[in-house]
Amino acid sequence: MKDSKDRVTDISTEVGFAGHVFRNPVTVASGTFGSGIEYSRFVNLNALGALTTKGVSAVPWEGNPTPRVTETPSGMLNAIGLQNPGIEVFIERDLSFLEDYDVPVIVNVCGHSIEEYEAVVERLADDDRVAMLEINVSCPNVSKGAIQFGTDPALLSEVTKRCRAKAKDKPVIMKLTPNVTSIADMARAAEAAGADGLSLINTITGMKIDIYKRRFAIANKTGGLSGPAIHPVAVRMVYEVTHAVDIPVIGMGGIASAEDAIEMMMAGATMIAVGMINFTRPDAVTDIIAGIGDFMKKTGVRDIKEIIGVL
Ligand SMILES: Cc1cc2nc3c(=O)[nH]c(=O)nc-3n(C[C@H](O)[C@H](O)[C@H](O)COP(=O)(O)O)c2cc1C
Repeated sequence: MKDSKDRVTDISTEVGFAGHVFRNPVTVASGTFGSGIEYSRFVNLNALGALTTKGVSAVPWEGNPTPRVTETPSGMLNAIGLQNPGIEVFIERDLSFLEDYDVPVIVNVCGHSIEEYEAVVERLADDDRVAMLEINVSCPNVSKGAIQFGTDPALLSEVTKRCRAKAKDKPVIMKLTPNVTSIADMARAAEAAGADGLSLINTITGMKIDIYKRRFAIANKTGGLSGPAIHPVAVRMVYEVTHAVDIPVIGMGGIASAEDAIEMMMAGATMIAVGMINFTRPDAVTDIIAGIGDFMKKTGVRDIKEIIGVL
């Protein structure tokens, strides 16, 4: 159907990902949206395609010393260090809160060792409130674990296999780091080890120096760069990965508008995640969902699946 301005009106934004159907392809990037509670005043959580929670570990983590965030041109550097209250508080407080919403939940999992990842995955495997698990093997800000698992194909393969084995029927999405020579090789390793999907990119390691204080702007010295500054890198990597593997990809990295989201999907992403922009515009994700619909109507795209990987 078309309206008086010759715009298509009957559009479908549904996408399938690892056996689930999502009402639209938009989620939020882990760590930029709390566990949803923090943003529920700004965003109708039921409008999201899915909600991805902050990384959770087997036991509480304190995170890194402050300062741990700083602004950069078109982005931010962070070295939070995956501070979180641990899986038991997460289940009790955050999953219980999300139960009242009609939104599929993707839980982001972190660990210092394979056993720690396994413990979290095992704890969530039978929980009906969890749609999918996203395994963060890509955080540049913790001294032990995390990124090591995402930069060595053999370790990535091992953590993928072991999480897959504990996850029962929950899809396992491996979250990849851009801090590697060939992200396509890492994607192939995760796929071969049984990953049901991939998400990328995590932040790019960076550094900022306060020249007046002659100090690092972040206590950790280095931090992860996110925001519009990394968007072209993310688009390139999503394109490379989706041409290297057959499993679906959640694309993220600097998405700040519906146009950025569409671009990421045209590069090959089946779903997209909105990250850093949530800090400067807490309702950005709402505008992005609406803007995707407007783009479809304006350009005659009846089904969002038509644009996935058109290039
Ligand atoms: C403050 C902050 C905290 C983050 N915490 C996590 C996390 O807990 N787990 C994870 O996998 N990624 C985490 N990330 C990475 C984001 O999910 C995302 O991959 C990255 O920021 C790129 O997207 P963006 O440029 O849209 O923010 C974090 C990013 C930021 C800025």
